[in-house]
Amino acid sequence: MPHDDTNGSKLALGIVALLAATPAVLDGLRHTGSGNDGLQVKIGDSPLDYSRNHGRHVLRLSLIDPSAPPPKPGTNYYAETSRYPAAEPSTVAFADFHTYQGFDGEHVGIDYLSVGSDMRGRKLLTRLLDELFERYTDAAEIDFGAMMHDAVVRQYQKRRASQGGPRIRGKLW
Ligand SMILES: CC(C)(COP(=O)(O)OP(=O)(O)OC[C@H]1O[C@@H](n2cnc3c(N)ncnc32)[C@H](O)[C@@H]1OP(=O)(O)O)[C@@H](O)C(=O)NCCC(=O)NCCS
Repeated sequence: MPHDDTNGSKLALGIVALLAATPAVLDGLRHTGSGNDGLQVKIGDSPLDYSRNHGRHVLRLSLIDPSAPPPKPGTNYYAETSRYPAAEPSTVAFADFHTYQGFDGEHVGIDYLSVGSDMRGRKLLTRLLDELFERYTDAAEIDFGAMMHDAVVRQYQKRRASQGGPRIRGKLW
């Protein structure tokens, strides 16, 4: 998804701050944990190639269900296909995102949100975004990017309406 980034030279200065902060931030993020629904939460690198979008390092927050059956062959993003690498085994949903340092603090840009086709309509998008927002509660901004699904627009609207927390941005597709 395209990411609106018009900070120009301000960004160059921000990168200096980012380089200083990145190792500690990433160390804190690369961990696993479980919720009371049995889903594990894991943050690591996205296997997808976003270099043509913005060239930033893209992370993936995954919801993992160890009891999930393997994905059907040919399922893009979950199984390996001719177009895309597979997600980590037992992934049922993921949020790909990148972060960068702006003058007002850390910015989070969402690159892609996906819930496995067998798992939709069970609030896993809500769960993904709750996990992301919890980790970036002190961020200056979370940008949903170009929103191509009504469920995502609904989440954007709800989170914008709630008080406090990061500034919420997004583009209606
Ligand atoms: C979009 C997607 C992530 C939604 O995942 P999901 O787990 O089915 O969504 P949830 O069950 O958490 O629903 C989240 C909210 O959106 C609403 N919603 C779900 N599907 C909807 C739809 N088709 N139209 C409108 N609202 C919808 C839900 O009611 C819920 O709102 P609520 O919290 O007020 O009840 C999933 O359909 C998907 O992976 N689609 C393909 C990839 C894609 O389009 N990604 C988005 C790119 S921007």
